[in-house]
Amino acid sequence: MNRNPLPSSDALVFFGATGDLAYKQIFPALQKMIERGKLNVPVVGVAKSGWNIDQFRDRVRDSLTQHGGVNEAAFAKLVGLLKYIDGDYQDPATFEQLRKTLAGAKFPLHYLAIPPSLFGPVVEALGQSGCAHGGRVIVEKPFGRDLESAQKLNGILHSVFDETDIFRIDHYLGKEAVENLLCFRFANTFFEPIWNRNYIDSVQITMAEAFGVEGRGGFYDQVGAIRDVIQNHMLQVVALLAMEPPTDTYSESLHDEQMKVLRMIPPLDPAHTVRGQFRGYLEERGVAAHSQTETFAAVRLEVDSWRWAGVPFLIRAGKCLQVTATEVLVKLRRPPVGKSLPGSNYFRFRVSPDLSLSLGAKIKRPGEGLESMPVELSAVTESQGELQPYERLLTDAMHGDAMLFVRQDAVEAAWSVVEPVLDDATPVHVYEPGTWGPGEADGLAADTGGWHNPQVSPASSSA
Ligand code: BG6
Repeated sequence: MNRNPLPSSDALVFFGATGDLAYKQIFPALQKMIERGKLNVPVVGVAKSGWNIDQFRDRVRDSLTQHGGVNEAAFAKLVGLLKYIDGDYQDPATFEQLRKTLAGAKFPLHYLAIPPSLFGPVVEALGQSGCAHGGRVIVEKPFGRDLESAQKLNGILHSVFDETDIFRIDHYLGKEAVENLLCFRFANTFFEPIWNRNYIDSVQITMAEAFGVEGRGGFYDQVGAIRDVIQNHMLQVVALLAMEPPTDTYSESLHDEQMKVLRMIPPLDPAHTVRGQFRGYLEERGVAAHSQTETFAAVRLEVDSWRWAGVPFLIRAGKCLQVTATEVLVKLRRPPVGKSLPGSNYFRFRVSPDLSLSLGAKIKRPGEGLESMPVELSAVTESQGELQPYERLLTDAMHGDAMLFVRQDAVEAAWSVVEPVLDDATPVHVYEPGTWGPGEADGLAADTGGWHNPQVSPASSSA
């Protein structure tokens, strides 16, 4: 695919430098980038914590210790690049200080690792202070909380940055296994003849997490599973599974094809949506006493295209489920022989915790008679590899490569899809932690042979 040869960023600024995302994802990614020789520009952290640079460096070391380990040589280099600005995002003096710190940088990359309510004020201040000049911006999800707020946010971003300089992150697109969906589909000829409604019976995606909201109750309670992962991660996976082949001849081709799929998904129907909340959620810190926020959602949708008409796409995502695993199951239609076992012809794409691409087939059961038995052929099965999503995406953004980021129209189309089922459009059913969510979700998949529950072996759960 074409990549845009744009100037590389000559400074990296990240807002929210003392926050959770920086601690868990950004510092480990920066250390990795240094190890690979991909980062050699000033890195400016901005936050309002009352800290000095030494406290900030301690925080970086602590983050690396907790997430992957400190590589002393790379850490020393990172420390040499680090600067820290302590200031309020509402105060023009913070941005004046940033402008001075950035003196000499022509193409700064600004990363907004901050609560969504601050995106607008920070972008406007970047514009007014001149810090945005020649720069790019990375915006974290959730990108708005519905179509209207996403459009408003896009308006603010466009008043300061061109669309080509806006990088909306969906870290799922930086996952090796998710990119492999594209590669596996389009780098092999054998898929195309059967990848359609004539051969495919249903498509299922399960994103299961065995843990709860992990201290993020205050944030999560404002969001819920549909906004947190269905509007973005899950619909992006649907787009990659259902899209037409992108072409190599122009760089926006992949985005255009993703967009076409999102536009062909009719808005979700409350009758085909089940929301759940794990028992005990209401006791989490930061969660409202009578919260109706969902920690589980299951939806059934269609992609209304010539290729996919009539094929159900089932999506299920939840916290406190039985295992932590994300899998796509593409069930093929049954062959027209009487004794065939249901559900044994399929493709299974494992996205996490490990990566695998498998084909479920039937062979003859050894011995007398002519009976079939299911087997699974694995095309590939391996750990996720070294390049973690944030490292991959940050490196791409620094090179101006937006291929794995989400374009404005796609974000808005995805909001249009989920809009009818947001908030309290459907009831919330309580489910027990450690299960597969509320039983009410079973009905959505009943005519496709039921939900497929990903299995996790002890080896892959520690991967
Ligand atoms: C994030 C969600 O975007 O994705 C989290 O906000 C979720 O709630 C996470 O746990 C899952 O991502 P991963 O890469 O850990 O599977």
